[in-house]
Amino acid sequence: MNSFIRNQFPILHQNVNGKPLIYFDNAATSQKPLAVINAIKDYYEHYNSNIHRGAHHLAQIATEKYEDARKTIAQHINASEQEINFVRGTTEAVNLVAISYGRKFIKEGDEIIVSEMEHHSNIVPWQMLCEEKGATLRVIPITDSGEIIFEEYLKLLSEKTKIVSIAYISNALGTIHPVKEVISEAHKVGAVVFIDGAQALPHKKIDVKELDCDFLGFSGHKVFAGTGIGILYGKEILLEAMNPYMGGGEMIKTVSFAGTTYNDLPYKFEAGTPHIEGGISLGAAFTYINELGLDNISVYEDELLEYGTSRFFEVEGLRLVGTAKEKASVISFLVDDIHPYDLGVLLNEQGIAIRTGHHCCQPLMDRLKIEGTCRASFAFYNTKEEIDATVSALKRAVKILS
Ligand code: ALA
Repeated sequence: MNSFIRNQFPILHQNVNGKPLIYFDNAATSQKPLAVINAIKDYYEHYNSNIHRGAHHLAQIATEKYEDARKTIAQHINASEQEINFVRGTTEAVNLVAISYGRKFIKEGDEIIVSEMEHHSNIVPWQMLCEEKGATLRVIPITDSGEIIFEEYLKLLSEKTKIVSIAYISNALGTIHPVKEVISEAHKVGAVVFIDGAQALPHKKIDVKELDCDFLGFSGHKVFAGTGIGILYGKEILLEAMNPYMGGGEMIKTVSFAGTTYNDLPYKFEAGTPHIEGGISLGAAFTYINELGLDNISVYEDELLEYGTSRFFEVEGLRLVGTAKEKASVISFLVDDIHPYDLGVLLNEQGIAIRTGHHCCQPLMDRLKIEGTCRASFAFYNTKEEIDATVSALKRAVKILS
């Protein structure tokens, strides 16, 4: 199965610093299969045109393909097309909700809850909203193993809680949070819940109806599509109640100096010419992973995680950062007191790409009293042989740095 899959990812077939590339930085961005690359190429070679506005042939094809992509994405997460808003990525999805929902519905004295291990993009927009409105940001504490302390979350919830925002899977440690329970408890006090799905969509099948989340944001580039495209899902009733995020073309019905009326969902939140080939690439990416089967992907990645975790322990002085019971295929680690960046550089010299640093999670690093970690994150096109090669490379690097 694996060489067949790897052949669909041209970028993997190259040498870096004289060694075959081992790409273990999938949590930062994923690589793209030919199905996605060809969809983007096809757009520019055959039907590049603006959408929703031209009567001509190319504009019709482009509009059709873009809206077909929206349909594919909607079906993938079990939403309606009206609930699928194209945005630039997860960061824009959070900001859109903080601005369009938050400015309208959050008042002085209200509370917004996030966890201690969120990505900066799921902290800063809420801090900005709280500052503007006189609301308070409350933080769910975590254990040393990198799991939220659920009883503490329950204690934070009250009638003051208006929004809870949490990642489905932590980008820094790979922890899978119990989001279904988080959502149902938030709903008991009348709060809405935003799920940051950036790290979850590449690994898990998500059904927004089953989860009952109010909002879900994710990024195309982490789920094998192009960069600069992502999705904000929102329940129709909430999106209807929200004001537009940006003004401009596409998001209006009528404009006059006497006043403007806004377009229907989902166009109300899509001002300006969108990232057309990005949207099409995201549709192609979901078609591709659905053909492979997300269940097959999950099983294989769990195997990689288990194998990788046990093999990484063979490196003397290595300790895992993040040992939650439920984890996605992410291994964050430190070796003795070696700086993560130095390890990253020596692995790169051997053709291996990992990420080092705070992973845009400074509050988490403060909580764990570390500056950062080395992070290897696996996708379904990675192999056990690549893990073996990385363990050998790590041993060599540690010897040099010790
Ligand atoms: N959020 C991305 C990561 O974790 C960039 O690497």
